[in-house]
Amino acid sequence: MSAPSLGREVHLVSNPAGLPAPEHFPVAEAPVPRPGAGQLLVCNRKFLVFAGLRTLISREADGFQVPPLKPGEPLFGPALGEVVAVGPGTAGVPVGTLVTHLLGWREYAVVDADAVRVVPEDHPDPVALLSTASAAYGALTRLTRLRAGETVLVTGAAGGVGSLAGQVARLLGAGRVVGTTRSPGKAERLRRELGYDAVVVRGDGPLADALTEAAPDGYDVIIDNVGGEQLTAALEAARPGARVGLVGALSGQFDPTLAGGTAPASIDTFRVVKLAVTLAGYQDAEHPGVEEEWRERLTHWLRTGELVHPHVTLPGIDRAPGALQELHQGRHFGTLVVEI
Ligand SMILES: NC(=O)c1ccc[n+]([C@@H]2O[C@H](COP(=O)([O-])OP(=O)(O)OC[C@H]3O[C@@H](n4cnc5c(N)ncnc54)[C@H](OP(=O)(O)O)[C@@H]3O)[C@@H](O)[C@H]2O)c1
Repeated sequence: MSAPSLGREVHLVSNPAGLPAPEHFPVAEAPVPRPGAGQLLVCNRKFLVFAGLRTLISREADGFQVPPLKPGEPLFGPALGEVVAVGPGTAGVPVGTLVTHLLGWREYAVVDADAVRVVPEDHPDPVALLSTASAAYGALTRLTRLRAGETVLVTGAAGGVGSLAGQVARLLGAGRVVGTTRSPGKAERLRRELGYDAVVVRGDGPLADALTEAAPDGYDVIIDNVGGEQLTAALEAARPGARVGLVGALSGQFDPTLAGGTAPASIDTFRVVKLAVTLAGYQDAEHPGVEEEWRERLTHWLRTGELVHPHVTLPGIDRAPGALQELHQGRHFGTLVVEI
């Protein structure tokens, strides 16, 4: 396949003060660059739509591991594509190879050959490699060190991370797995398709009471993707010695009154001390080796059928500008990807 001279990409036109809307992300044409030495030209097939983009385009993105996006720049994030040209002297990743990399939201991307991961030809579900649920795997195995038989709570269970986190907790030996969502329909799917023992629908009365009802002996491990009121309630339902892995901050990222880089929560620190609860935030960079380990185990579990990767595919790059809005509206279940 030869590359055209122009390709389409999704740009940021301005850093929105509130929640982003489709007009912040027009699809525009841009010259398709040629790969230089040590580089590859990749024709993207699919890319991930993820909540963290709200943070990266916000005015509060400074200090995060990934540099914030500026107006005029194309969006980026995990992508799956095929190598269509290699730069001079670039060996090891031939034309036709399927790879994952971090320059999504565009039809063609030039990436350094050492920044791509090759997708094995016999991979059972390459789209699953776009998932960022390695963070939940890392939080379960490195931060909270889940032990066999323990009770686990996953907040934001119907999102890309949460829909894998509950299944992974079970595979790692959890005795009871409970999740939260705002949708009764998603709650039903979490129980039926993903093996959650119970799911609490937020907005149906006091959350802490419902969480306690779902696990009367309390939670040993909490994987928190949300923060805010859900973290407050989760701590009220925690057992003595509970470990909390703080993975995400959906409550802040999807709050129109916040700028996207904060997620305040009220915490009864007296209770945290009394019950000897530990809280720790998860950052990939602090845990080298987790990503590779996760990819291997994810691939194995997909191949054996022990785990499924729930995802929704939006057809066409023209669907991309509205995709982030669809995410915070909670329209989809599991991982959301755009197929170019
Ligand atoms: N620490 C790390 O290294 C790391 C890595 C990856 C991701 N993360 C973070 O982990 C979190 C989860 O990521 P994700 O990919 O699973 O998210 P996602 O799939 O992008 O989130 C979509 C889900 O968010 C839920 N949602 C929308 N508004 C919400 C609100 N106000 N409060 C709670 N939930 C809301 C919706 O489900 P409902 O319909 O149920 O509301 C929707 O399905 C994000 O904060 C992300 O940035 C961190």
